[in-house]
Amino acid sequence: MAKTCSSIIAGKAVDGDGGRLTSTNPARLREVVAEVSLGDAATFLQACRAAKSAQPSWANVPAPIRGRVIAEIGRLVEANAEPLARLVTREVGKPYAEALGEVQEIVDTCDFFLGEGRRLYGETVPSEMHDKALFTYRVPVGALAVITAGNFPVAVPSWYLVPALLCGNTVAWKPAEYSAAVATALYELFAAGGLPDGALNLVLTDGAATFGGLAAGLEEGVIDKVGFTGSSAVGSRIGELTGRYLQSACLELGGKNPMVIMPDASVELAVEGALFSGFGTAGQRCTSLGTAIVHESLHDEFIAGLTGRLETAAIGDPSQNVLYGPMLDERFADRFEEYLRDLIEPHHELLGSSGTGRITSDNPRAGFVGDPDAGVFCHPTIVDGVRLDDEIVRTETFGPMIGVASFSSFDEAMALANRSGFGLSSAIYTGSPKSVFSFRQRISAGMVSVNNSTSGAEAHLPFGGNGRSGNGSRQSGKWVLDQMTRWQSMNWDYSGHLQKAQMDTDAVSADRGFRLEA
Ligand code: UN1
Repeated sequence: MAKTCSSIIAGKAVDGDGGRLTSTNPARLREVVAEVSLGDAATFLQACRAAKSAQPSWANVPAPIRGRVIAEIGRLVEANAEPLARLVTREVGKPYAEALGEVQEIVDTCDFFLGEGRRLYGETVPSEMHDKALFTYRVPVGALAVITAGNFPVAVPSWYLVPALLCGNTVAWKPAEYSAAVATALYELFAAGGLPDGALNLVLTDGAATFGGLAAGLEEGVIDKVGFTGSSAVGSRIGELTGRYLQSACLELGGKNPMVIMPDASVELAVEGALFSGFGTAGQRCTSLGTAIVHESLHDEFIAGLTGRLETAAIGDPSQNVLYGPMLDERFADRFEEYLRDLIEPHHELLGSSGTGRITSDNPRAGFVGDPDAGVFCHPTIVDGVRLDDEIVRTETFGPMIGVASFSSFDEAMALANRSGFGLSSAIYTGSPKSVFSFRQRISAGMVSVNNSTSGAEAHLPFGGNGRSGNGSRQSGKWVLDQMTRWQSMNWDYSGHLQKAQMDTDAVSADRGFRLEA
């Protein structure tokens, strides 16, 4: 049954002038998941205004009580995990087991932050003067505009929404249009958890309207912070725009994540990791494996192992037990085919399937699960023979494709691993502590896995990247608190007279010429 979705501002459904959109099941394009009424830039602005005006009273709710709301949201998500995961599978094609994992990530995030409501610690700091006390407080930033992608249509939004709300901020959230039904369901669960109207507002708009709304909201002063997960190109536009208003956005952008396989690695384990992180979610994670960088002594064994696993992997209907399902939406398949056309060079060898690009009855894949013509499915592709200067080493392909390069020295491996200019996630397979710590020290990435794949971050470790992967912000765990709050310092002088810092302090009398007797 198709859902009808529209923006929800201050608790009320709002139809905007942004046109209509049909959200379909990417595994069965004829199945309509939602009819979406899109808002325009004015709708976005209206949502930001609603968030801004609801913020003072939400911030006035004691933090432990806000934590209770987060607890209720977590329990509701848990109780509705299966229908929510089924909807994720239907609307963006993520295999059901992975969709359930994604829903669990919201629960984990709520579990972490419900307790933070009873902490949100500030500090007492000693003063340099008598009868004076110093304190620090975490204060909410204000009203946030949060813009998220559809590859993790519920987990990644929760990384923003949960800590933002817990800290006393309010939010105008714009999810990907092609995951509007999932976003509406998540909104409903948050609202049912006991949030007051206006604390969370859902805006369904396209990219252009969003940008227009952002510019207007920043100018009007109803957006205090922007959170964005998506491409580096859009992220840098957002960084530029927010910079004009002296704001630093929380930017979580793309990746081209390297996996270095050292000569002492377990090839079997590395193949397992490459399969999951290169091809899970059809390679559409920001943490997906980009380039496997394999010691020359293991190259052939790695290629044989991975090719064997990939050629026989079940791909197709995401409600079945498959390695991956369809692309999130047709636009991602089109772009993936462009990458295949633009990035493959004569010295590359393509492996892993019976074809490349879209899987169709004319370009079939042996063992495909379901009907490939019904949806948007792509062949898995291993691009072997990748070299340091190839364009593919620098390009996030966001689809079921990985590059494989080989190296002889550790320096060469590090040059390949840092070549992309991204710096999100990374992995090394080795048994040697020296290799692990040298890699950790020299890799530009914000996240390092040892004998584990590049994806699959736990919900309470800092998540984020460097270089083209972001502007240094970190999400998750206690670290995201620095995005969602600002430090306020307070000093209280109860001496009854003006004491001047640096000037009215006690003198110290030291005998500077003192030396021990020889
Ligand atoms: C993303 O693709 O934006 O660590 C986030 C992982 C997931 C999150 C990916 N839990 O792969």
